Amino acid sequence: MNSLSIEQLSLTYRNGVQALTNIDLKISNGMFGLLGPNGAGKSSLMKCIVGLMQPSQGSISFNGSSVKQDPDAIRKYLGYLPQDFSVYPKVTAYQLLNHIARLKGLSDTRSRSEQIDVLLHKVNLYEARNQEVLTFSGGMKQRFGVAQALLGSPKIIIVDEPTAGLDPAERSRFNFLLNEISKDVIVLLSTHLVEDVRNLCPAMAILAAGRIIKQGRPADLIHQLDGKLWSAFIPSSDLQHYEDQYQLISKDLREGKLQITIYAESPVPGFTVQKPTLDHVYFKALDEEAKR
Ligand SMILES: Nc1ncnc2c1ncn2[C@@H]1O[C@H](COP(=O)(O)OP(=O)(O)OP(=O)(O)O)[C@@H](O)[C@H]1O
Ligand SMILES: [Mg+2]
Repeated sequence: MNSLSIEQLSLTYRNGVQALTNIDLKISNGMFGLLGPNGAGKSSLMKCIVGLMQPSQGSISFNGSSVKQDPDAIRKYLGYLPQDFSVYPKVTAYQLLNHIARLKGLSDTRSRSEQIDVLLHKVNLYEARNQEVLTFSGGMKQRFGVAQALLGSPKIIIVDEPTAGLDPAERSRFNFLLNEISKDVIVLLSTHLVEDVRNLCPAMAILAAGRIIKQGRPADLIHQLDGKLWSAFIPSSDLQHYEDQYQLISKDLREGKLQITIYAESPVPGFTVQKPTLDHVYFKALDEEAKR
C-alpha cells in the first residue's frame, strides 16, 4: 500500500498570491478526487507534490520519506500529466514515448520497447503509434498523456484536469482507463467536474481559495445531507426572501420555471424533501466558503 501524506502545506507565489493554506491530506491506493473551481489551487498543490514548486511551509512525504529531504523518494515512482501538456515536437507517438522512457531511466532497449507497446495498447493508441502526436485529437492527446505518465511503472500518478475539453464518449473512455490503472497505485485526479469524482473516486477533498473545505468519502458526505434538502418551484420575486431566510444550495430552471433547493434541518412548508447528490455537497461547501 502506497501513502502520500501532506501536512500543513502552504504556498505563496513570488507576487504575493497565497495559493495554498494549511493543506492536510492523507492519500492511499486508489483514486482520490481533488475537486475545486477555477483558481482554487489544484494545479499549485499538484506542482508542490511533483516537486515543480517548493512549498513555503509544511511537508510532503511519500511512503514515509520526506520529499524535501529526498526528492528521489517520490520522483522515481511518479507519473504526472500536467494541465497544459500540449507542446509536442514533430515526432511520432512511439518516438516520443521512447524518448520520455529514456529520460525516465528505462535504459534497456528491449524491455523499453515492450513496455511502450503494452502502454500503447492500454490507451488504445497502438494503431496510431506511427502518427505524429501533433496531429492527434484532444482525446488522443490526453490518452497519450496517460501513456507517458505510466512509463516506468509509477506508484503515484497525478493527473491535472485531464478530461477538460473531451467529448462525453472520449471522457468516458478516459475515465475507464484511469479507473483501471488505479488498482494498485495512487491516482490523484483534479477536476471541476463533480460527476467525474462521483463516478471514479472512493475518497475526495474539496479545495476552494487554497483551503481544503471538505474531505471524505463521497457517499458519506452525501449521506450527511439526507433529509435536510428541500426543493420547490417558486416565483422569481420570492427568491430574495428564501436567500435571506435559508442557505440556498441551488437554483435551476425547469422548462423555464425556477426551482430552488434550500438547506434546512426540519421541513419547510410548501417544499418537498430532495435526495442529496454530490453536487449539493459541493455547492453547499462552496457557499459556506464564500461567506466565510
Ligand atoms: N505562477 C504563478 N504566479 C502567481 N500566481 C499564480 C501562479 N500560478 C497560479 N497562481 C495563482 O494561484 C491561485 C491558484 O491557481 P491554480 O492554477 O493552482 O488553480 P487551479 O485550481 O488549478 O485552477 P484551474 O481550475 O483554473 O486550473 C490562483 O489565484 C492563481 O492566479
Ligand atoms: Mg489548474
